[in-house]
Parts: sequence; C-alpha cells; structure tokens
Amino acid sequence: MNANRILQHPILGPLPRADTLTFFVDGRPVEARAGETIAAALVAAGWKAFRRTEKRHAPRGVFCAIGKCTDCVMTVDGTPNVRTCVTLVRENMQIKTQDGLGEWPVA
Ligand code: FES
Repeated sequence: MNANRILQHPILGPLPRADTLTFFVDGRPVEARAGETIAAALVAAGWKAFRRTEKRHAPRGVFCAIGKCTDCVMTVDGTPNVRTCVTLVRENMQIKTQDGLGEWPVA
C-alpha cells in the first residue's frame, strides 16, 4: 500500500498525519488519506492506467494533474468522465477504470 507516497519531502518535511479511508477501484480496495484527490491516492498506491482511449484502447493516467487534459477520467459512483486529479476521494467511493467514453447509467 502507498508504495509511491512521499513520506519525507526534502523541502516540505514529513507528511502530516491524516485520517485514512478506503475506496474501491474495479472492486479492489484502495487506501487513501482524507483530503487528497482520487488520482493522488491511486498514484500513491501504484496505479498507472486510469482509462483506455476509445480508438486504440491505449492506457492513460495522470498527465496534467490540474483538470485540463482528461487523461485521468474514470467512472466515479456511476458517473463517467470524472477528472480524478481534481476530485477528492470519499469513503466507499466505487470507481471503475474507463474504456473509451464511458457509459452513463440508464435511468
Ligand atoms: S490529469 Fe489531466 S485532467 Fe486529470
């Protein structure tokens, strides 16, 4: 868990304490720190492919990390195309990696 998390930053110092929570990606539990984005939690946990492109099904992950490029979109609690780099994680969120444009839930 959190293989990529920076615990001691050379300028910012040690990582402050934070509550932990669990959310699920494709049914697998992932731990996160309260107050961080979905993408930050996934990168910390070692995830690289958040979605696949529509035509070539090429993997995409975090690119801009500021909500501009859409490379990080995933289906979050049934809503496709959510930019995970600017969306805060919540307890028990159900997230799916997205293939292509995603599917909207049928009403
Ligand atoms: S990484 Fe570019 S919108 Fe999220």
